[in-house]
Amino acid sequence: MTTSTVKEYKSAVFQGQVGKEKAFAKNGKGVYMTVEKNGKEYSGIIDAISGAAVASLGWGDEDVYDIIQDAARKHTYSYPAYVTNQEAEKLAKFYIENSAPGAFASCLWTCSGSESTENALKIMRQYQLERNMPKKVKMISRECSYHGFTMGAMSVGNTPRGAPFKDLMIDQENVCIKMPRCYPYRDMKEGETEEEYGKRLVDTLEKIILDNDPDTICSVIVETVSGSSVGTPVPPKGYLKGLRDICNKYDVLFMLDEVMCGTGRCNPNGKLNCWENFLAPEDAPDIQTVGKTLGSGYVTIAGVLVSPKVLDVFISGSGTILGAQTYHSHALNCATALGIQEKIKREGLTANVFKNGNLMGKMLKEALLSDETNIVGDVRGIGGFWTIELVKNKQTKEPFAPSLKIASRFSDIALECGANVMGIAGADNYGGTWDIICLGPAFIITEEEVKLLVERLLKAVKTLSKQLKQEGAY
Ligand SMILES: Cc1ncc(COP(=O)(O)O)c(C=O)c1O
Repeated sequence: MTTSTVKEYKSAVFQGQVGKEKAFAKNGKGVYMTVEKNGKEYSGIIDAISGAAVASLGWGDEDVYDIIQDAARKHTYSYPAYVTNQEAEKLAKFYIENSAPGAFASCLWTCSGSESTENALKIMRQYQLERNMPKKVKMISRECSYHGFTMGAMSVGNTPRGAPFKDLMIDQENVCIKMPRCYPYRDMKEGETEEEYGKRLVDTLEKIILDNDPDTICSVIVETVSGSSVGTPVPPKGYLKGLRDICNKYDVLFMLDEVMCGTGRCNPNGKLNCWENFLAPEDAPDIQTVGKTLGSGYVTIAGVLVSPKVLDVFISGSGTILGAQTYHSHALNCATALGIQEKIKREGLTANVFKNGNLMGKMLKEALLSDETNIVGDVRGIGGFWTIELVKNKQTKEPFAPSLKIASRFSDIALECGANVMGIAGADNYGGTWDIICLGPAFIITEEEVKLLVERLLKAVKTLSKQLKQEGAY
């Protein structure tokens, strides 16, 4: 028998920077949180990204504690494939009723966004088999997209972070095909209008479908508004509608990933879905993933929503969805998510974050874009989901060298200035890089808190810009 010495490291959690000291969330109230990092306590921090665009109700909500306590007492676990629970049914009805009329007919509740992607891929494949279209297997998604970090999700995603696992993924040549990303700031050509750019992307999709035999295409998959990948670009006018029409034309399923941008973060009508900004109810996706704000970080819940079209095929086919996971439709998760969503609706918090989020975006744009002395190249987003892109040269959009770790340096400075942000070093698979700062506050954020947050973010931009100037980095 071999034995090895157990060494003591600064962290026993196999996550992120292994063995190294971690930053700890100590507690939170509303949009504020206390973080401990490198032995120092930071309190009164505005959580500008609400974890990872998760908290809809913010931290420490007393009503949620009551909802959870009540749910834990009332409900019992059951294996969902055989014995389900009323809470899963009620949550599904709530989501369907608060979406555009006729958009969705049924929901599967999972425990994470990645798991939702996995299930959605299988549902779409089974849909094609149920209607006797076995050749329809190819899935077209976008370059630079992110749909989670499990194998199927990485296969339809496309970031260098997934590259080390390429050999384990679903066939990238013949099954998981990629179309161009949607990134207007970097990809719109000089003199091209928004509509022309959107059409160029749609035309490219059509060409990919034709080149790959339309009878073999199962689905097209996009994030309505991408988050951690290319930082909240608002889809160009006509783009999503164009994708929807192409999917209809070639009998292909249209899937939207709203794990990060959906469930109230960006809806203009006080409802749930982000796509309702860009698409009419009759152009709703055939299938949609959701997560994050659904459980507001209090419970681990995500989901897959299916349209009447998809449901009908299952009902008139085998009548069964293949596979069931132990914690699907978990009663405590569903009851808590329902209570949270009812509170958000009752208090008009989706409308609140749409209004105050847009105010935050407007204030950041006004303060940062016209000032030639800072490193902000773009401010973009919608509702409660925004991004600041940092560049070396505002005119040419040249990014900073990745070795400078600008996004992570900005996050550290922002924390010192009193804001928790998500700084991401973005990259494509062709050597392109960028630095983005994602913002997604809790839905409860007030106008005063937005003003304070903007003040802190401006201070962080000024500090980093000044430091980099002194270092001769731009
Ligand atoms: C668009 C999108 N899809 C899927 C996921 C995966 O969700 P999870 O981290 O809950 O597995 C994420 C996570 O950030 C996401 O942003």
